[in-house]
Amino acid sequence: MTVMPAMEPGTVRTALRRHFLMCRPEHFAVTYAINPWMDPAAGADAGRAVAQWEGLRAAYLALGHEVSLIDPIEGLPDMVFAANGALVVGGRVYGAKFTHPERHAEGPAYAKWMRENGFSEVLEARHTNEGEGDFLTLDDVILAGTGFRTDIAAHQEAQEFLGRPVVTLRLVDPRFYHLDTALFPLGGRNVAYYPGAFSPGSRAVLERLFPDAIIAGEDDAAVLGLNAVCDGRNVVINAEATGLIRTLRAHGYEPVPVDLSELRKAGGGPKCCTLELRG
Ligand code: ARG
Repeated sequence: MTVMPAMEPGTVRTALRRHFLMCRPEHFAVTYAINPWMDPAAGADAGRAVAQWEGLRAAYLALGHEVSLIDPIEGLPDMVFAANGALVVGGRVYGAKFTHPERHAEGPAYAKWMRENGFSEVLEARHTNEGEGDFLTLDDVILAGTGFRTDIAAHQEAQEFLGRPVVTLRLVDPRFYHLDTALFPLGGRNVAYYPGAFSPGSRAVLERLFPDAIIAGEDDAAVLGLNAVCDGRNVVINAEATGLIRTLRAHGYEPVPVDLSELRKAGGGPKCCTLELRG
């Protein structure tokens, strides 16, 4: 039996410079539970969260990416999870409309930042959606999660507004309540994902669209290893996802491990803290 190499020898992955929006977790806390990771009794420390978040921001800057900041608002402990604030594609902003009342005020706060920072086309969504938590943008398609937070009607609303095909994927495991906890794009044409998070039909869709996908196991998914950010070459990823980190390296990617263990107490990782601004 011959073992195929994970990638063509000599293949070089190329990084594209990204522009991210982040929110420093000054008011971070776990005061309510809207996903199975959150336990208000466990205690979360804003100081530790800020220090870890600074590590994430420094990693992006070291990779040459641009990072803009939105001011955190007191009383919105989950506002650090910027990915949920909107979906920005081709300079158009599809606004978030949060599922849980605890986070409702974040949608308008992110929309306001967009208007004040040069994004004139901001759509106030009619349908419930949690931004890039459930919408992941590839070159030709936007993958969209549903099942826990984002309404399927929002997938159609986003497709119509952005003029990109949106493919619905159904999430079935409450630990992976947002699409970005179960899947991340590897550049514009491939993805990595944990199959156990998806319904059988959605798994079949992923197999058809991405026959060369990197498949992650439950151990890596359970430390939010799929909540990663890839720029085409570098993958900023939770350090505990050791198996997935090895696999990524074997496929020619450059893992950049970070420690966001404090933010994981709210069910978040590197991608949750990161909203991409696509001009
Ligand atoms: N506590 C937050 C919530 O449940 C975490 C959001 C994480 N964000 C993400 N993009 N997955 O809404």
